[in-house]
Amino acid sequence: MRVNVLGLFTVAFVALGCRAKSSAPEAVARSSGASATSPSDAAANGARTYVIGMSQCNLGEPWRVQMNADIQNAAAKHPTLKLVFKDAQNDSLRQRAQVEELLAEHVDLLLISPKEAAPLTKPVAEVFRQKIPVIVLDRAVDGEEFTTFIGADNRRIGREAGKLAHKLLGDKGNIVELEGLMTSTPGQDRHSGFRDGVELAAHPGLKVVFEADMAWLEPNARREMESALAANKKIDLVYAHNDPGAHGAYLAAKTAGREHEMKFVGIDALPQEGVRYVKDGVLDATFAYPTGGAEAIDVALELFAGKPVPRRITLGTRLFTRENVERGGEAVN
Ligand code: FRU
Repeated sequence: MRVNVLGLFTVAFVALGCRAKSSAPEAVARSSGASATSPSDAAANGARTYVIGMSQCNLGEPWRVQMNADIQNAAAKHPTLKLVFKDAQNDSLRQRAQVEELLAEHVDLLLISPKEAAPLTKPVAEVFRQKIPVIVLDRAVDGEEFTTFIGADNRRIGREAGKLAHKLLGDKGNIVELEGLMTSTPGQDRHSGFRDGVELAAHPGLKVVFEADMAWLEPNARREMESALAANKKIDLVYAHNDPGAHGAYLAAKTAGREHEMKFVGIDALPQEGVRYVKDGVLDATFAYPTGGAEAIDVALELFAGKPVPRRITLGTRLFTRENVERGGEAVN
């Protein structure tokens, strides 16, 4: 990250002057307020102001609030950047319309974290065809009509979760898999990766006894887990595609008095969410899923400077377990 004295001044100002975005469908944030480095002053100084439209699929989960905050904080260091946030409130049709609105508003760059691949592919391609750069974050669209994709490798995280499940269970055990939305690419990849990693065919004693799509949402996960518990006398491990899902499963098991019978593995590892659950003995493990928000602003600045950028930026992960959590987890190689 580029840091200069002016940037540091602006960060300090913004840290005092800005609040996290609300869950309102649209919010406008300037990279600084009425400071000496406001966008209009930047423009007056000859620097061009760039408007970045950010289409977020929902702000109902802490991880997405964190992504917007990461974008906001990174942009705050650059007075030439102005952000326009839209929240699709977990509705793909609303997100389509919001992308069209951002296009009509002539943003200089589109950032998007799409709810689902198929319905968002066409509107994203339309923006790209108008020669507006598009950075896709975390969940992919179909095809190649975007400038850069930034996100962690979900297949790999799923595979590591599968290997961990095998390590925790040995060659025998009943597994419940609570899937993220299977029309979104992280759900598909965390599922296929897990199946690769756990190698059911090679270990006939390991079985997935229940699987359900909980669409990334804790209340759904809790409800699905109630069904899993009712249908299975013994469950040894729950693999949920995100930490809210793992937490929902834990609450269902606790209500049934069965939480000590099984292990719980999730993904995201936000400090105040998954990592906290591991510290509190609720989850056995979670994998970090970085938001890519800061990297997106870095790439946007490169694009505005006319520099080439990679087509795909793959972010790393970390594993947090009860054993390593106090040390900050460990890198997954
Ligand atoms: C938030 C979330 C995260 C998950 C990501 C996958 O909406 O469900 O918990 O890791 O989306 O795209």
